[in-house]
Order: sequence, then structure tokens, then C-alpha cells
Amino acid sequence: MKDDREWIPDATDLDWIDGIAAPVDGALAAIEAAAKPQHVPIVDRDTGRVLSVLAGDRHRIVEVGTAYGYSTLWLALGQPADGTIVTIDPDRDRTDLARGWWRQAGIADSRITVVTAKALEAFAADEPSLAGPFDLAFIDALKPEYGAYLDALIPRLTRGALVAADNVLWSGRVSGSRPRGDNDTNTAALRAFDERVLGDGRFTATILPVGDGLLVASFRG
Ligand SMILES: C[S@@+](CC[C@H](N)C(=O)[O-])C[C@H]1O[C@@H](n2cnc3c(N)ncnc32)[C@H](O)[C@@H]1O
Repeated sequence: MKDDREWIPDATDLDWIDGIAAPVDGALAAIEAAAKPQHVPIVDRDTGRVLSVLAGDRHRIVEVGTAYGYSTLWLALGQPADGTIVTIDPDRDRTDLARGWWRQAGIADSRITVVTAKALEAFAADEPSLAGPFDLAFIDALKPEYGAYLDALIPRLTRGALVAADNVLWSGRVSGSRPRGDNDTNTAALRAFDERVLGDGRFTATILPVGDGLLVASFRG
């Protein structure tokens, strides 16, 4: 345990940051309102804001796990206006709804391509829209598959590409700070993923304690 920390941010700090942040786009708020009652898991606002920052100057983004397109929209809003995103999700009902919210936010259809498939099958099939090269990849689908998504993504990344992955602290179960169910498949897979990426010399990587834990990594090639 690090014992030299005099202070760690708490909910008051997060609320203060929220209070001075730019207003949330109406379409993002609409997705938040729709996702909650349907129990559709989406990144939280703090994570969305980080994704938007990471997307600055990133022209070709790939995302694994679209759902209602909330993280997709944060990425699209942070990207240059001519940037594109390829996002993968087998659930067409969800991604059809996502398209409506992207339009509401003024994102041209041509900027976002949805691949309706299981990600590993789409990568293995060499789906043309997934050929890359990509300068940012965001992973947020099946937790036991995070490592395999990364394996499929690496040959499709530019040197200097950013990789982000959500839920990598898994509500404290990965580190053991909240050991509830810490031996489940998801926890073990996420722990292995974190250890692998932070120990991989091809990446400069860390984990931001934002939302449920956001791994961010820069690919050295
Ligand atoms: C956590 S949600 C994504 C949330 C989204 N990134 C956001 O923050 O707005 C995970 C999504 O992964 C999708 N999914 C499930 N299996 C998948 C697979 N094999 N490949 C890609 N996506 C998958 C689910 O349908 C679900 O919509």
C-alpha cells in the first residue's frame, strides 16, 4: 500500500469538475436517460470526457462494444470533423437506436460504420472496414475477450496509436479493494489483461481511476 498520499479525490471533487465542465450534448443526455431503465451498460460521464480528450486529432477510431453508441458519440464529438469510427456490436437493435442519437448530435452517417457481428469473428473474417490502420482503439465488450481483442487490434494500429479499455478495475474486484466475487471469470480476465498491457514493452500504459477504471496505452509499435 502506498502510504505517502495525503489526499485522494472524492465525490465532492468529481461534482466540482462536473460543475465546471462543458454542458453535455443533448444526445448524450438522451442516451443516458434511455440506457438506465433498460440496464444497458455504458461508460460514465467522466470516462466519456476522457475518451473525448483522447480522440482529439485521432482520425480513424475502432471501438469494440457499441451498445447505444454513448462512448461512440463522446469519441466522435472529440474527433476532428473529418474523423471516422468503426464500431462493432452484434446487437443490431441497440446500434439502430444509436444511429438516431448520433444523427441528433449532428454526426454524419458517413463518419460512423457499424459492424454487426461478434468482434472476434469479424476480425478473423478480415471484415474490410476493420482493416485499419487505426490511431485509437476503445475496448468495452466481453471482459474475458479483452486480451483477444487486443491481439486482433495490434496489427491494425499505427505507431503512436492510443488504446483504451473500460471496466479494468471492475468495481475494486481486480485489485481486491472490494473482494466481492474476486475469483469470477471476468475479474480474473481483467486482472490478466491489466497486468499484460502494463507489462508489455510495446506500450506505455497506465490505469486511470476514472469510472470503473480506464486503461490507457500508447502503442510504440
Ligand atoms: C458495455 S456495453 C458497450 C457500451 C458502450 N461502449 C458505451 O459505453 O456506450 C457492451 C456491448 O458489447 C456488446 N457485445 C457483446 N458481445 C460482443 C462481442 N462478441 N463483440 C462485440 N460486442 C459485443 C453487447 O451487445 C453490448 O452492447
